[in-house]
Amino acid sequence: MTPLGALTADEFLRDHWQKKPLLIRQAFPGFTPELDADDIAGLACDELAEARLVSGSFPEHDWSLEHGPFEENRLRALPDSNWTLLVQDVEKHYPPLRSLLRAFGFLPRWRIDDLMVSVAAPGGSVGPHSDRYDVFLVQAAGQRRWQIAERFDATLLQKTELNVLKSFEPEQEWTLNPGDMLYLPPDVAHHGVALDAGMTWSIGMRAPSTADLLQACGEWLATEHDEGPRYTDPDLAPAANSAELDPGSLKRFAGLAAAASRAESGFSEFLGLFLSRYRLAHEPVGPDIPLSRKALARAVMQGSTLRQNPWTRLIWSGAGDNTRLYAAGSSYLCSIEFARAVCDVDALAREGQELAAANGDLLCSLVNDGHLYLEADE
Ligand code: SIN
Ligand code: CO
Repeated sequence: MTPLGALTADEFLRDHWQKKPLLIRQAFPGFTPELDADDIAGLACDELAEARLVSGSFPEHDWSLEHGPFEENRLRALPDSNWTLLVQDVEKHYPPLRSLLRAFGFLPRWRIDDLMVSVAAPGGSVGPHSDRYDVFLVQAAGQRRWQIAERFDATLLQKTELNVLKSFEPEQEWTLNPGDMLYLPPDVAHHGVALDAGMTWSIGMRAPSTADLLQACGEWLATEHDEGPRYTDPDLAPAANSAELDPGSLKRFAGLAAAASRAESGFSEFLGLFLSRYRLAHEPVGPDIPLSRKALARAVMQGSTLRQNPWTRLIWSGAGDNTRLYAAGSSYLCSIEFARAVCDVDALAREGQELAAANGDLLCSLVNDGHLYLEADE
């Protein structure tokens, strides 16, 4: 089941993904949020959570931005209108919400950044803006009016930390009710205004920038590969002018950068390490006292369930016994069956005993490195 309404995943990817906005009425029929505004306010006071409070409206441009963690009194003193409280990574703080993200399983898991929840008072908005990533905006409670424009003046308002467009002329608008969802590709201007007290859940699909990728690749080459191949020029011709950075050198440098992305030089391993930890706000932490293989086998035998740490990202690549499981920047050599089972919440919970019997050491490492944990039988 996908939340794409009448469209198949193929049709959505062909016609909309990274191309065109799409409104899906009742993408989640009968949507009942598992968290309410008070839960989100509570989270915004937690020092582990990344929270922002935006006040103001458009076209007045009377914006103010505050960063969390917030004092309870600050949130209690909020006025009746024109503010939005936003909290990132909510599915990591409340792991049951990860089931919502499974509805987006037709997209690669490493594409999913987080579930951001915004709670808004009537009139609440973060201002018209555009983002550099794809987003699915699910209306969770109350009504929100979304206006969008694919062609717009990208001039930003000056003297504010907020990413707000100076002017905005909507091309289309809709009122979203609970369960409705708006998909936006990158660089579409959007402006959402709460019509009453409500909540929007955004599933952000942030992709790495070239800077992120090359910086991480450079660090990996420096630590793992003795800095990688060096610039060579055995085909050098006499310089017409020795001060010129000539086209031949430019071509050789471009080739050097491309050489790093050849699979045989371990690029797929680098990508697995990089994408499995990309933008994770916290490092997964294992138990204080490492678990032994025996203790793990005993625990699953006695009914404990293996769970994924929500602060890790598990992905795999490869085939057969040459499969690599990546978890928050670490890699583990394993069989494809093991990787698939560990990456699938249901299989992991169901097959704990079999996994512990056949791959006890590996499973232990994943627990001791903080990627998996044991939930005791109640
Ligand atoms: C919001 O939920 O208030 C803002 C989400 C967005 O515009 O990306
Ligand atoms: Co946005």
